[in-house]
Amino acid sequence: MIGRLNHVAIAVPDLDAAVAQYRDTLGAQVRAPQDEPAHGVTVVFIDLPNTKVELLHPLGEGSPIAGFLEKNPAGGIHHICYEVDDILAARDRLKAQGARVLGDGEPKIGAHGKPVLFLHPKDFTGTLVELEQA
Ligand code: CO
Repeated sequence: MIGRLNHVAIAVPDLDAAVAQYRDTLGAQVRAPQDEPAHGVTVVFIDLPNTKVELLHPLGEGSPIAGFLEKNPAGGIHHICYEVDDILAARDRLKAQGARVLGDGEPKIGAHGKPVLFLHPKDFTGTLVELEQA
């Protein structure tokens, strides 16, 4: 059911420092920061030949990644995103198998303008999984 790895998301305490590290130290193609007020994050996409890295930084009060950064002050891998062809079919199949979908279970529009869902990390070997309809 899952297809390509769309991105790996890394929560970072200092967005400018992380951008500079990926651009200057690692020599990666780094895009401009993008504020996502509906998701409480500022994101920076880094284009790699086979996938993307998404740097996440809290935006505004009550950001969903604020707690993660409190527990992981140096930053860390926050989630991985797999592509699916049909997000509603994927959700229904996962729910039927007992996996927990976060939030109200309805897809939201993610940072790429496409529908996304998140799956509970306790159901997926400790990893927060994002599904994106590609
Ligand atoms: Co993501």
